[in-house]
Amino acid sequence: MRMSPQSAFPSLFIALFVSFGVCFGSFLEDTYHLNNYHSYSLKPNHQFGIITKAYVSTPSTRSKGIINVDDYGGKTNDKKDNTEAFQKAWHDACSSGSTLIVPKEKIYHLKPIKFSGPCQPNTAFRVYGTIKAWPKMSSYKQQDGPPHWIVFSDVTNLRVDGGGTLNGNGKKWWIKSCKRNPSLECKPAPTALIFNQCNNLRVTNLRLQNAQQMHVRFQKCNNVTASNLIIKAPGDSPNTDGIHITETQNMIISNSIIGTGDDCISIVSGSQNIQAMGIKCGPGHGISIGSLGAHNSEAQVSNVLVKGATLTGTTNGVRIKTWQGGSGFATNIKFVDITMKNVTNPIIVNQNYCDQKNPCHEKESAVQLSNIRYQNIRGTSASEVAIKFDCSRTVPCKEVYLEDVILTPAQHAASGTIATCENVRYVNRGKFFPPCNI
Ligand SMILES: *[C@@H]1O[C@H](CO)[C@@H](O)[C@H](O)[C@H]1NC(C)=O
Ligand SMILES: *[C@@H]1O[C@H](CO)[C@@H](O)[C@H](O)[C@H]1NC(C)=O
Repeated sequence: MRMSPQSAFPSLFIALFVSFGVCFGSFLEDTYHLNNYHSYSLKPNHQFGIITKAYVSTPSTRSKGIINVDDYGGKTNDKKDNTEAFQKAWHDACSSGSTLIVPKEKIYHLKPIKFSGPCQPNTAFRVYGTIKAWPKMSSYKQQDGPPHWIVFSDVTNLRVDGGGTLNGNGKKWWIKSCKRNPSLECKPAPTALIFNQCNNLRVTNLRLQNAQQMHVRFQKCNNVTASNLIIKAPGDSPNTDGIHITETQNMIISNSIIGTGDDCISIVSGSQNIQAMGIKCGPGHGISIGSLGAHNSEAQVSNVLVKGATLTGTTNGVRIKTWQGGSGFATNIKFVDITMKNVTNPIIVNQNYCDQKNPCHEKESAVQLSNIRYQNIRGTSASEVAIKFDCSRTVPCKEVYLEDVILTPAQHAASGTIATCENVRYVNRGKFFPPCNI
């Protein structure tokens, strides 16, 4: 079933429709213009300015002391495992509200490790050097839940920064992935860095590379700033999402460069008031809401703003993906000021997402997608279908707004671009190309 805008919003359309020109469809008086993100508790620029200032002018007032991991036996050489030194150093830093320093120009090796709170205020973890994952895969066996490498858990007001590198040493894991080799059993690989239940968290100025699976996951956190991150893994490394956000509220990601083998940023259920600004993404699978609703689960995602992103050579640009059979909603999602460079699916909503070996069957229920805005999205599509709304037949996408969306073919593509729009109720204003062919 296809729905035209007219059938979807009859009264609204009659009241507000103004003919605007032949080429680019309709102009709709913008009743939606009161951007809800004004009500977000975090004000990006303001907030960011304060952080920068505090960081520059008052470092010494932040930390009661400095704890150098080298003083805990963290001496480096190729074969040495530094886990114990880090654990002890963390204990002292956390219990005194100090800054744990990982010195520069050195490489430390860590087995799976948990830096737990609660800690005294002003605890920080400053990486100048490199921390590399212990290579032996059997060290990562987890009794409780999925494998991990570095976890920060239950720390309030934590700051992690320093400009150094966390290297997940992931090659061995990628080779053993069922995505690479379908004859192998599908087993989860460790997430390189997890922040669990951390409130008032700042993660800035760090490099993450070659994670075993996901690079960094924020889960059950509140009030998070993540900025100036560089996240790198090869485009063919399996499931190496850059930044994964789950059950987290009030988060700003800014000025970050992410190129991996999976989503640059993925935002899943329980996440609210998430902003991503100034993101360079590629290679990878783009910026994603979802996947949502797997295994008939209920999903809730609201107030997401992706503003100012450049995606280069990614398989998707901005994507929303949900499994059939899920329930719940994703609402008030905005993609604004986005440049696509040779992106295979620049704008895509896929409510028939199925990332498993067995085919997924059609189901009646779906995660409801509503109030989704695409504004000033420009650039080139590597494939013919530049815009794809593959929404649920039973729970169509509604309140979709497209404004100044222009996606032309990448140079090598012979044909033009098209939009496929299934089960979507949308309105457009400004430029909209390629248009949905109804
Ligand atoms: C958010 O966290 C920052 C520290 O990262 C803190 O300064 C600020 O007061 C927190 N905001 C709220 C509303 O708790
Ligand atoms: C554009 O993307 C396609 C498909 O990903 C790729 O084959 C091609 O080499 C890319 N072109 C450029 C100029 O990067």
